Amino acid sequence: QKLTVIGAPIEEGAGRLGALMGPAALRTAGLIHMLEDLGHPVEDRGDLRLPKTLPVVPPVQGLAHYIEKIAAWSRMLAVETYDAMANGTFPVILGGDHSLSMGSIGGIARYCEEHNRELFVLWLDAHSDFNTPATSPSGNMHGMSAALLCREPGLEGVFGDEPHGFVKPENLHLFGIRSIDKTERVLLRERGIDVIDMRQIDEFGVVKLLRRIIERVQKANGILHVSFDVDFVDPSFAPGVGTTVPGGATYREAHLVMEMLHDSGVVGSLDVVELNPFLDERGKSALLLVDLVASLFGRQIFDKPTLSEQSA
Ligand code: ARG
Ligand code: MN
Ligand code: MN
Ligand code: MN
Repeated sequence: QKLTVIGAPIEEGAGRLGALMGPAALRTAGLIHMLEDLGHPVEDRGDLRLPKTLPVVPPVQGLAHYIEKIAAWSRMLAVETYDAMANGTFPVILGGDHSLSMGSIGGIARYCEEHNRELFVLWLDAHSDFNTPATSPSGNMHGMSAALLCREPGLEGVFGDEPHGFVKPENLHLFGIRSIDKTERVLLRERGIDVIDMRQIDEFGVVKLLRRIIERVQKANGILHVSFDVDFVDPSFAPGVGTTVPGGATYREAHLVMEMLHDSGVVGSLDVVELNPFLDERGKSALLLVDLVASLFGRQIFDKPTLSEQSA
């Protein structure tokens, strides 16, 4: 299948600067060539740039830093991912901080709504990103993207009247979580969001937990969007991120997740977010990400997997 690669050098959603360099570092680490070597035709749309004039966003209740810029990115990205889907391609969005998922998924969700496809989202992250301006302790909008996509109030100004879709809260699966703010926890419980935390991963392993999600998508003949926040992986393997939390997915767990996702055949779009090359160590995290994306797009160590396919 043809891939559309979209660079989204956005960093204002994060608490520290540097994610702006993410797309460049992923390209330097060989992402595009890797995808082509795996046999996928790639249309590289390059890195998008903000328009000169930003949208006017009505004031919010609470904290939402740089909301005009985030709104401009979201509106632009929603058009790009919608078009990529409408052209029958698989959008791959290179971030950039996690606020970009408001736009990328907003466009994909619009496509799915218009084409009667059920959209599911796998949010691989240390954080749940389910804050609103009213609950966020930081005001950083990368911590609000999942909430906006599930129609939490307070962020309507991001899209204004521009076209975009939403994600059903019951179709959002947070995976790898180990840092949740107090008020965020309350909201996640109230909405009944599926939160797979590291405790569950330790106890049951990624295979069993992920297979449950994949089977849901397959039964619904749905499309799965994967939103990959670098901090899902343990900082010992991926130090190049502004919000490291210890105790993350191991190198092998992260690969296994990507390999299972590939075999599932249900993934239709991907965000790779939060890489901060300024904090990386000699390209370590960027190179790991390229390898992980390779696993998602079919690279195998040897032959078809065995255990992950069999036995439930
Ligand atoms: N929960 C914290 C906040 O709202 C951290 C969010 C981190 N998000 C991320 N995409 N890295 O500020
Ligand atoms: Mn995140
Ligand atoms: Mn995170
Ligand atoms: Mn709206």
